[in-house]
Amino acid sequence: MTESPKTATLTVHGDTYELPVHSPTAGPDVIDIRKLYGQAGVFTYDPGFTSTASCDSTITYIDGEKGELLHRGYPIDQLAEKSHFLEVCYLLLYGELPAAKDLETFETTITRHTMLHEQMQYFYRGFRRDAHPMAIMVGVVGAMSAFYHDSTDISDPRQREVASHRLIAKMPTIAAWAYKYHTGQPFVYPRNDLDYASNFLRMCFSVPAEDYEVNPILSRAMDRIFTLHADHEQNASTSTVRLASSSGANPFACIAAGIACLWGPAHGGANQACLEMLEEIGSVDRIPEYIARAKDKNDPFRLMGFGHRVYKNFDPRAKVMKQSADEVLDLLGIEDNPKLQVAKELEREALEDPYFTEKKLFPNVDFYSGIILEAMGFPTSMFTPIFALSRTVGWVSQWKEMIADPQNKIGRPRQLYLGETLRDYVDIENR
Ligand code: ACO
Repeated sequence: MTESPKTATLTVHGDTYELPVHSPTAGPDVIDIRKLYGQAGVFTYDPGFTSTASCDSTITYIDGEKGELLHRGYPIDQLAEKSHFLEVCYLLLYGELPAAKDLETFETTITRHTMLHEQMQYFYRGFRRDAHPMAIMVGVVGAMSAFYHDSTDISDPRQREVASHRLIAKMPTIAAWAYKYHTGQPFVYPRNDLDYASNFLRMCFSVPAEDYEVNPILSRAMDRIFTLHADHEQNASTSTVRLASSSGANPFACIAAGIACLWGPAHGGANQACLEMLEEIGSVDRIPEYIARAKDKNDPFRLMGFGHRVYKNFDPRAKVMKQSADEVLDLLGIEDNPKLQVAKELEREALEDPYFTEKKLFPNVDFYSGIILEAMGFPTSMFTPIFALSRTVGWVSQWKEMIADPQNKIGRPRQLYLGETLRDYVDIENR
């Protein structure tokens, strides 16, 4: 970061401080408070990081007001339409769209890393069969550090690269095997002649008694779901990965931490929660009841798949997802899908309601993704694992960027302490 000519003035307890202001290539200026405590002896307070930039980054940019998402400058709708997931992975990891030869090499590398260490099967077998696939994923990805020692030295750029490739390549196998284990079916090995999305679908749905014929339109829709979830700048799980890795933890442990964070219903778990909500609503005539509940301050119910910390306009991913839902259901000959009908009507009614428009609550990426995944044959418990596999490239790219940054420091937030001040221990008989 270069020295900034702009400054902000802050007055604290009557003293004035000049703080540097950095101008990004896009987005609002950022006041640099790194030296504030040293100079003024005060902290800033921002629970939930609503106004705090935790790092600088060149990977992804979101304009929440416009509803714009750019990866390395390229809009998500163009990438979803013209590109494909592995090309987007390359773009996120290396900063530019690949030349044809580089893409071929990258695809070959990823394809050749898709198998898991055979011993990992025994690790899976330690879980209860009814374990949620996300629980299995947190455990198995964390356990990768026990299986791939030769890519855990984060000071070695080559090991970092191998860890990145392994994570992107193996995550579909890990997620598919979590599903297979959960359903009691045998694990299906990856096949090198299939593309990334087709391979994942086959590993999920093929059984020894009957191979799974991958429908190219479904595989394209799967690939698009991966693309739409690939990265989303400093969201909760990505920030978790960055914070975990700021201590020097190995990449597999850090990505496992990201998966754990993603699992929550306010984040990646929202796609499962959204489909369950659409199922619960059941028919369009019950929508007003649920809208009323979402607006009721005394009811914890929220419209799942609605609202976003950054987007105060349409989530651009939701638009592509809605179109994809129509295409996939059409292809599968599913007419009058009640959940899609409820979703469309719910969206329409919510967007006519001042509660949602005034708070700028719009459908997010998870509003329609569950409908597509269910139509493809996935149970709701697989929705968040699919999100995790798609987001792995984002986590890995952000992790790589952070490790290579000479300014990288251990993440250590401060606090506004409101507890007791110093007091003497009271013996138990006197309490
Ligand atoms: N339904 C009803 N009301 C809502 C919703 C919703 N889905 N989302 C936000 N609100 C209301 C809040 O009650 C709050 O109202 P208030 O100002 O009167 O108190 C206001 O809108 C602002 O909401 P916050 O929770 O302060 O906003 P925040 O940025 O912290 O939360 C979040 C964003 C977590 C995504 C929230 O909108 C939500 O819970 N949505 C539902 C879950 C969901 O879909 N998550 C997926 C996010 S996208 C992703 O991770 C891929």
